Amino acid sequence: NPVPVITVDGPGGAGKGTVTQMLAKRLGYHLLDSGALYRLTALAAARQGVSLDDEAALVQVAASLDVAFEPTPPGEPARVMLAGEDVTSEIRTETCGNNASKVAVMQPVRDALLQRQRDFREAPGLVADGRDMGTVVFPDAPVKIFLTASAEERARRRYLQLKDTTAGVTIDALLKEIKARDDRDMNRSAAPLKPADDAQVIDSTGLSIEEVLGRCMVAAGQA
Ligand code: C5P
Repeated sequence: NPVPVITVDGPGGAGKGTVTQMLAKRLGYHLLDSGALYRLTALAAARQGVSLDDEAALVQVAASLDVAFEPTPPGEPARVMLAGEDVTSEIRTETCGNNASKVAVMQPVRDALLQRQRDFREAPGLVADGRDMGTVVFPDAPVKIFLTASAEERARRRYLQLKDTTAGVTIDALLKEIKARDDRDMNRSAAPLKPADDAQVIDSTGLSIEEVLGRCMVAAGQA
């Protein structure tokens, strides 16, 4: 496939969401937020009364997701529509992220979402954000980045995002959740989170978003 893809994988909270939006905007590329598809599967399951351990029913939910990513001004997160309803903020909650990581351990659920992700690869190019973009979904991507940061730094960043809107949130509680989610994402047998052999690893601990973007542009050969 000649359409270029830049894959950006890494643990939750490493800054992938912000950086991939900025990268896509700079390059005029499309953006795939693959995590949103797992979050939407978890949310749609809850809406339909499907239990998070009913694998067969979850596969049906994933295969029949009625989802649209509505364009917003470039560089802003797309509005996410589930069956015509705006769920942009609802899928960002900690609960939805944790539930997403539970459905994401199931290989048949992953299979049901695979082609939908590959369909995002359209000219002039794609920036793909996730856990297995470089290892499974786009193994032939010419540029692969693995963006990471220490768990403590990720908990601090998440805390700053949440503290004004979420009562009772603490860094310690967030750190525990982050470690539990890392553990689930890295130690599952289906597409575990790990850098592709040919990925360039960028550690964003202590870096500003502009510095991270700069390193990604260098990695992409676009600096
Ligand atoms: O990136 P985000 O936090 O939105 O992803 C939510 C969860 O979805 C992750 O913790 C992970 O378990 C799962 N996921 C995945 N593969 C991807 C993207 C997300 O397994 N490509």
